[in-house]
Amino acid sequence: MNKKLLVFNWKSAPTTVDAAIKLARATENYLKSLKPKTQNLKPNVVIAPPFLFIEEVGKFIKKVKLGSQDVFWENLPTGKGPYTGEISLRQEKNLKVKYIIIGHSERRQILNETNEMINKKVLATLKAGLKVILCVGENLLIQKRGKKTIENFIENQLRKDLKNIENLKLKIENLIIAYEPIWAIGTGRSDSPEDAVKMIKYIKEFSIFNFQFSNIKVLYGGSIDGKNIKKFVKYKEIDGFLIGGASLKPKEIKNIIKSII
Ligand code: PGA
Repeated sequence: MNKKLLVFNWKSAPTTVDAAIKLARATENYLKSLKPKTQNLKPNVVIAPPFLFIEEVGKFIKKVKLGSQDVFWENLPTGKGPYTGEISLRQEKNLKVKYIIIGHSERRQILNETNEMINKKVLATLKAGLKVILCVGENLLIQKRGKKTIENFIENQLRKDLKNIENLKLKIENLIIAYEPIWAIGTGRSDSPEDAVKMIKYIKEFSIFNFQFSNIKVLYGGSIDGKNIKKFVKYKEIDGFLIGGASLKPKEIKNIIKSII
């Protein structure tokens, strides 16, 4: 079985740097204390804190890798730029960020982030040598229209978000897709493992057929916790999980990591 990837997306929590350090420490220490039967079972864990806490969290983690929840697409040679409120790739790289979550549905829906913007971020991040976690997923309205409509919707997102990717010298391990049905995010109602696997397989097949990406990693995200993760981990098609709410609770973190090894 392949090593699973766990990405902890803290979103806009916690509210203080002390709480962020405490949480990062709890995750790091638990990971360190594990003695899996084989080293290969120890998951790769990424924490994506709010920008504000990235630097401090970075000081306390060794086993855990650092992620961020977004980035700005313009990557000027100076690393600076007149982009009020935005964080540049150079700034993130300097803080030792390795993974960048791009196109999360909360950004697409609440902040009107478009596929065109997401595409620019994906290309710039890959060019800079960092890893992209590209989020795709359908809303409830689309889900209700059935499998074919969901597939068409995801295909459209992938085509637009990955436009011109063939012009890059892509290392496939730098591109990770996260399938996150919007109706399952933060609702406590995850997708069924069987349906999630079907979509993940579809995304993998589509990626081979369209982009010639074999071996692309695809994660599942949406209301995963320390309990329901057990039903998902047995599927080899699911390469890992993008986890929001549960990644803020030390007890859940332990149960999540424990169920992988
Ligand atoms: P959730 O969030 O685990 O709280 O559903 C997942 C996500 O938004 O990535």
